[in-house]
Amino acid sequence: MIFPDWNKDNGVRATGLDADGLKLLWSGRRSSSQAADHSGVWRFREVLPALAETQEPITLREGNTPLYAMPLCARIAGVERLQAKHQGMNPTGSFKDTGMTVAASFARQQGFRWVACASTGNTSASMAAYASRGGMRSLVLIPEGQISWSKLAQSLDYGAVTCQLKTDFDGCMRVLNEVVQRMPVYLLNSVNPYRLEGQKTLAIELMEQLDWRVPDHVIVPGGNLANSSAIGKAFLEMKEWGLIPTLPKISIIQAEGANPLVRTLRENGGRALIPVQAETLATAIRIGNPASWKKALRVLQATDGRVEQVSEVEIALAKAEIGAEGIGCEPASAVTLAGLKKFVKHGFVKSPETIVLVLTGHLLKDPDFTLKFHRGDLFGGTRFEKEAEVLVPEQRAPLVLEASADAVVRVLEKAGS
Ligand code: F0G
Repeated sequence: MIFPDWNKDNGVRATGLDADGLKLLWSGRRSSSQAADHSGVWRFREVLPALAETQEPITLREGNTPLYAMPLCARIAGVERLQAKHQGMNPTGSFKDTGMTVAASFARQQGFRWVACASTGNTSASMAAYASRGGMRSLVLIPEGQISWSKLAQSLDYGAVTCQLKTDFDGCMRVLNEVVQRMPVYLLNSVNPYRLEGQKTLAIELMEQLDWRVPDHVIVPGGNLANSSAIGKAFLEMKEWGLIPTLPKISIIQAEGANPLVRTLRENGGRALIPVQAETLATAIRIGNPASWKKALRVLQATDGRVEQVSEVEIALAKAEIGAEGIGCEPASAVTLAGLKKFVKHGFVKSPETIVLVLTGHLLKDPDFTLKFHRGDLFGGTRFEKEAEVLVPEQRAPLVLEASADAVVRVLEKAGS
């Protein structure tokens, strides 16, 4: 695998601009007609490794994602104000696109015909799309029966050779590492540093949206722990470049059943990773042996962030509460709200502080989970059945009625004002 070195300061320093100059340069590009400037990633290209001048980036107009006010969720969590940066509004429906545009562009520049990844579904969907846009073939390894079918459908439709392996994500990763030793395919998993560079732009775009006022807390889900690492790197670099005066506390939330970072910190102070056999309905973060755990740990330490774990029922409840704001996300994203509630309870997050949740994937990434939730089928027959009773008030099962106005009117009357 070829990862040429780059000097991270090159781009920013080479402009000769100070912080205000950079901010102006980036905001000015919003009105440009160039494809690269329409991308919420390449618009910040000074913070990315430089593509050769002969190369165009492979872009689907990624980034440019909304920052939403979440007043209902704020009230539920017990804070004054809450915002969510919705990375599910990217072209393939997850935050992966911001890293993939960069890594795929460099794969093409280096002349690779094949790119590959192991995935819990979102990386593969994103990679398949960007590979095809860039005229490359892609190989996807996913754990059989353990990813959402809508993500599987994406990778098929975007033209990937898709292999469902009879193992979990960590097993897929092991197989892929062997495949890349034997075949000239370019590894596009999140250990690929170009992906991390692209994912940094989430933080820069967020700061632009906040008028460069640093929030007190940024809360992210943790799976393979690349995204938290990338966001942390971005904030540290922004501080170094004088774009921001302070750092937010960056905290990471894992599912209880896929909690290697939580266990590692609690049981051995972060000295050595404690891998786990991962099990969670939030399949995107069903990862027991995260590749970027050391980087994520450094981010927690550098920003005074915390790690927390949340239960399956807490995830399902938080997802429904986010949904009830009119903002759909996938289960893995909802861990952020579930984690925030715990942080408030423990006093780590205080009510007047500014908080941003990073929603990593779109609701439509996992429609099965949502339908089962509303039909009350998510936890039936499982050990969570009793705990899941708290979900009943949030459940809105579809109603099957006779085709008559009377029947519909009765429903409206029953629903009240
Ligand atoms: N949220 C979603 C929706 C994800 O798809 C992932 C990771 C994460 C959070 C966790 O991010 O791994 O950087 O800590 N999905 C990967 C995949 C593993 O293959 O799609 P992370």
